[in-house]
Amino acid sequence: MFRPPASKTTVTVVRNRESEFHMMESPRILIVEDSAVVRTLLSQRLEKQGMQVTQAENGREGLAAALSNTFDLIISDVDMPVMDGFTLCREIKRNPATRRLPVIILSSHDTEGDIDRGFQVGASAYVSKSSAPKELGSTIKRVLESYQVHRSHLVMVVDDSLTVRGMVRKSLEKAGFRVVTAGNGKEALERIATSRPDLILSDIDMPVMNGIEFCKVVQNIPDYKDIPFVVMSANGDRSIMRRMLSQGVASFLVKPFNLEQLVITVEKLLSHHVLLMLKDKQRLEGEQRLFLAGITSLITALEARDQYTRGHSESVADLVCKMAHHMGMDETDIESLSTAARLHDIGKIGIPDSILLKPGRLTDEEFSIIKSHPTVGTRILQVIPSMRELLPVILHHHERFDGRGYPDGLRGKKIPLWARMTAVADTYDALTSDRPYRKGMPRDRALNIISEVRGSQLCPDSVDVFLEIIAGNGAEHAVTAMRRTVEA
Ligand SMILES: [Fe+2]
Repeated sequence: MFRPPASKTTVTVVRNRESEFHMMESPRILIVEDSAVVRTLLSQRLEKQGMQVTQAENGREGLAAALSNTFDLIISDVDMPVMDGFTLCREIKRNPATRRLPVIILSSHDTEGDIDRGFQVGASAYVSKSSAPKELGSTIKRVLESYQVHRSHLVMVVDDSLTVRGMVRKSLEKAGFRVVTAGNGKEALERIATSRPDLILSDIDMPVMNGIEFCKVVQNIPDYKDIPFVVMSANGDRSIMRRMLSQGVASFLVKPFNLEQLVITVEKLLSHHVLLMLKDKQRLEGEQRLFLAGITSLITALEARDQYTRGHSESVADLVCKMAHHMGMDETDIESLSTAARLHDIGKIGIPDSILLKPGRLTDEEFSIIKSHPTVGTRILQVIPSMRELLPVILHHHERFDGRGYPDGLRGKKIPLWARMTAVADTYDALTSDRPYRKGMPRDRALNIISEVRGSQLCPDSVDVFLEIIAGNGAEHAVTAMRRTVEA
């Protein structure tokens, strides 16, 4: 395993944290590092993860390799003979042929000044060597994903001059963008319908439909109005361009423009656009957190009505999370499952105290009211789009594996996996907690009962995973089977 020399603090700084995209299949990585040991260990580690690695011993060698080969990422040390990592990064960013190549600085220096310097010379991330074993993998993934986002951008070039279209297309493609072209506004509108661009570069003076009309149409179509629109036109059109700018055009380029300047403008606008989308995403996440805080208060209020179920939702969520970790579920799913488990009984909020807290036996009518809580809970949460994937847990946590549960009498694996897992944790916590009419039973007795209802009331695989984490009874086969279910 890769173990770089330790330093006193651990620092990992990453920019561009877009992570909605899958990593490219077999990324080509250039490692620039003067220590043969670190270079080799790092290469082996990355190759094991399916990356193609090329090694260079110093900045100059790295620069030569970057200019003569195609890479997806450079990981560079700082202190190296001949050419250091900062100089290498600066040179990479200076050269039009390589400047879109992301660079991760991997250094044992991790003061604020070092990190700042790394970003000043254009690095995408700065990882300290001491935190590399833990952080480098995820940093590589994030940087590559961000790079992939850049490459996935489609730019539409609209100009009636074939020469201009050709030149602009060539420069943008060289910088890694995908390009679609059109000879006038009308043609561009037809193309937009099939290939929605992330940015439009348009001339003003064109036949059939000019740039001004084209821009107006685009801005009046709700689906297209957020596409950054850049006007490119001759010197004489400056006043028109200024007016268009005040009407929502993102930027303008005066012909004859430098193609470098054009690429930089496009890159800037797109990264700004991505940032805005990211901010929007963060805002939504913030709203969801607030919403969850509200729901958690409701759960607390629900449980406050009944001293016997206080903390039940938290305990169920905790147990389910342990099962999920054990099964190798990914962190995002575990987080969602945990929220679902915390909210599984939210529908009980609508059940009167006289029934919910009744110490004696429930009448059939009372029991049917209790049985409505999965449906009521689903109804409460279904209006929130981000809660949709949690609804099957809320709705089906009282289904039985033999089909005799409620509300839908689902049987076996027709019951969603997360709901089957929650049912096991729910049953265990209910058995071991005190109730108005009985004391909570000891752990071993509860585990015996769980084993007895394995395959009838509860999902056998989920029970085995549960028993393994609680009792450590070694039901390895079940965990393997469940992992397969998760992977599938
Ligand atoms: Fe329940």
